[in-house]
Amino acid sequence: MSLTQFSTGAGLAPGGLPFTKVTVPALAEMKRQAKPISALTAYDYATARLVDEAGIDLVLVGDSLAMVVLGHENTLAVTVDEMLHHTRAVRRAVRRALVVADMPFGSYHGSIEEGVGNAVRFIKEAGAEAVKIEGLRVELVRALAEAEVPVIGHLGLTPQSLHRMGGYRVQARTADAVRQLRADARALAAAGAGAMVLEGIPREAAEAITAELEIPTIGIGAGPGCDGQILVFHDLVGLTFAPAAKFVRRYADLGAAIRSAVEHYREDVEHHAFPADTESYHLSEAAQKNLRGESGDADAVVNRDALEDWEEIGQA
Ligand code: KIV
Repeated sequence: MSLTQFSTGAGLAPGGLPFTKVTVPALAEMKRQAKPISALTAYDYATARLVDEAGIDLVLVGDSLAMVVLGHENTLAVTVDEMLHHTRAVRRAVRRALVVADMPFGSYHGSIEEGVGNAVRFIKEAGAEAVKIEGLRVELVRALAEAEVPVIGHLGLTPQSLHRMGGYRVQARTADAVRQLRADARALAAAGAGAMVLEGIPREAAEAITAELEIPTIGIGAGPGCDGQILVFHDLVGLTFAPAAKFVRRYADLGAAIRSAVEHYREDVEHHAFPADTESYHLSEAAQKNLRGESGDADAVVNRDALEDWEEIGQA
């Protein structure tokens, strides 16, 4: 490929409005310009497309997929292959936002080589533009940066450390713990992390880290002082089945909307109210006559209108 074939990063949104592709360096520029970064998880084509078209800057294929999509009790069980599968679906949907793949538990906890190898799979096989890893993994962040894999750190309440933490608890609740967290964040940034997710920590701790890092912080349950915010898509739209955490703001109740739509459909089927005549295909009068034996025109059995209807059905 020649240099002149490289994309400029610009494109057209479905409405025809121009957009600039969000990249890891663009996130840093947003921080410099004090422009808040909006981030959300997505796990499939339809929701990722809606999230992207709504102008969200960063789409994370989070390992929360294990819980909100696959129904596991925690995030630990999801595999690299499952995460790759969903990252590909999201990749196909997203044009503007930065697509970040969460590396699942166990995929970067062994050797550095194994961690880099798995991260490369997300870039190469699924089209992710960055990966996210949890915890203080300075050597791995350095190795990923050297391998040209943009990496986002994740500190504070790290759900993959569930068993070590003894539950999902707010972290960094003492001055010493905040000092340690700040040192960890600085170490990851110095090793080459492009951004930092801060989860489940006091807002004062997040504000201190945000102030001293050049890379952007993206908070979830870390207060309003971060450079950006992220939520789990299913929490935001009310598609979860457990009480929401304190930091979740529910912007819609899709659970109730879907339940009601499906109940109405079931009732309509049970009462022969669906499908209506207007939702049905019809034979022409001539074909109907032929079927009743009232016409000798054998060709009339084939209804040209109906045939066209069938051909036009396609996919919406
Ligand atoms: O998996 C996830 O959803 C996350 C959060 C930071 C949103 O890691």
